[in-house]
Amino acid sequence: MSIKHRIIRFFVLSAIGLLLGAAIAGISIFSGKQDTRSNKVSFSLINQDGKPVTDKDFYGRYMLVYFGFTSCPAICPTELQKMSEAYQLLPPESQKRIQPVFITVDPERDTLKVLKGYVDLFMPELMGMTGTPEQIDAVKKSFRVYASKVKEGDSYTMDHSSFIYFIGLDGQILAMFKTADKPDDIKTRIMELHGLD
Ligand code: NI
Repeated sequence: MSIKHRIIRFFVLSAIGLLLGAAIAGISIFSGKQDTRSNKVSFSLINQDGKPVTDKDFYGRYMLVYFGFTSCPAICPTELQKMSEAYQLLPPESQKRIQPVFITVDPERDTLKVLKGYVDLFMPELMGMTGTPEQIDAVKKSFRVYASKVKEGDSYTMDHSSFIYFIGLDGQILAMFKTADKPDDIKTRIMELHGLD
């Protein structure tokens, strides 16, 4: 191969590389945008009273959602307490427009009875939700929640991600609150986001 050919080949290969890079970057930007637009969550579950509930039932209202399991020793009760405090800090007209929800990632042990007893510990407005393992897998996927069984002696515990989700009128994720966020921060952000239209 002559020098000239090598130079040409170098430039052709570089151009292909650049084009591929640009194409990949373009796809990532595009899918990134798509993700934001399709930030909607969906679920088909059963509430603590045994009533089937889906995301569509809550369209037109906001939701505060937390995933966990009732036998969680520390994180879940702390975060649910925090979510309840943030909710109670809101003016009554805002509270009416928001449904607080606890979704179990441990449907095997969190039966309707267990779930009902648990949500009642926090506040009467808190709705518990469970479902078949398939339904729970689907809702976890929709919210991109991580939860996995971890063996603990003869039994197991659940390792899980911990975010409080604020869901908009048409099922979109408007905000995610971390464990470091305080009830007052959450309340302030909700007030900013939801408006009283
Ligand atoms: Ni937990």
